[in-house]
Amino acid sequence: MKKKVLSAILSVAMVATLLTGCGNSAKPAEEAAAPAETTEAAAPAEEAEAPAENTAGGEGGLIGVAMPTKDLQRWNQDGSNMEAQLKEAGYEVDLQYASNDIQTQVSQIENMISNGCQLLVIASIDGDSLGTVLAQAKEANIPVIAYDRLIMNSDAVTYYATFDNYMVGTKQGEYIRDALDLDNAEGPFNIELITGDPGDNNARFFFGGAMDVLQPYIDNGKLVVKSGQTSFEECATANWATETAQARFDAILASNYSDGTKLDAVLASNDSTALGVANSLAANYTGDYPILTGQDCDIANVKNMIDGKQSMSIFKDTRTLATQVVKMVDAIMKGGEAPVNDTESYDNGTGIIPSYLCEPVFADKDNYKELLIDSGYYTEADLQ
Ligand code: BGC
Repeated sequence: MKKKVLSAILSVAMVATLLTGCGNSAKPAEEAAAPAETTEAAAPAEEAEAPAENTAGGEGGLIGVAMPTKDLQRWNQDGSNMEAQLKEAGYEVDLQYASNDIQTQVSQIENMISNGCQLLVIASIDGDSLGTVLAQAKEANIPVIAYDRLIMNSDAVTYYATFDNYMVGTKQGEYIRDALDLDNAEGPFNIELITGDPGDNNARFFFGGAMDVLQPYIDNGKLVVKSGQTSFEECATANWATETAQARFDAILASNYSDGTKLDAVLASNDSTALGVANSLAANYTGDYPILTGQDCDIANVKNMIDGKQSMSIFKDTRTLATQVVKMVDAIMKGGEAPVNDTESYDNGTGIIPSYLCEPVFADKDNYKELLIDSGYYTEADLQ
């Protein structure tokens, strides 16, 4: 995977940049038995990573990169891309994965600080749980970049780099609106909603963005949520776990759709929850597959898209985010200011964190080849 990613970076960085540009359109918003091909199958087994070797000499300094888990494919790609690109730029890298365990992530960050890391890049498991350890980073003058997920209530966070999370949600909502032709079709249509972990600040942006598009149709009766579960809390999925999403969906289908009532659409905020929905539908639902959204373009979900079991996924090219974060790291390490394009949207409770937002795009069975294969993100074989 690393080799593949590295060569992909070298050969198609330009294409990737063209396909997934970066923009500045965020608005603040409020927040499973799988088939063999789960996201877990696509990801290497969970293990703590030893400090990486430094192929480029590491004269630029030691950078700590803390990732949440190897269970989801995307974080493996994020970690490999960051490691490869930082080394390319002359830095030494300490890359760690924390098995989605908050205390493990805290210990890993403590070790990074005591081992002399000069800058920390952190994709948090729970945005609210790093205050104490990051106070130590601040004390030691170590800048912190929040990666993909904002770290909350800590004044140690220097910058934030992510995809435009609100836009992810609006694109999912718009996809459903257009697929059901909500402005013209008579309806009503049945929809159910599922989102992510309450400790992940992104989840509220995704859900808020999608609901800003869908809520007017719920209000005018064109969309009906038969389960009655429409609040963020009711629709949340702890740890974004496929099994948890599937269990909630099993219950929703049993109570509301077992009599043959048609389910027209499911808003799922990401691919791991969409997989839980697809598994539940396969086991409990005999009608036509509903429109089903997702995010990340994980391999299992792209395969489902090709098979007609998921309608779309949001593509967030992790190479693009890594490139942007490496630019930030480099600027800070050289004593300058990091490039940002948003100074309004992300308040972590201590003030606005200057951010760089990359633009997400949607993928479906009509454009996935161009987005995912032609750009070198996956090979044809990955998707078979
Ligand atoms: C990321 C998504 C991911 C989810 C679950 C979010 O913070 O932005 O890309 O699907 O976490 O890992």
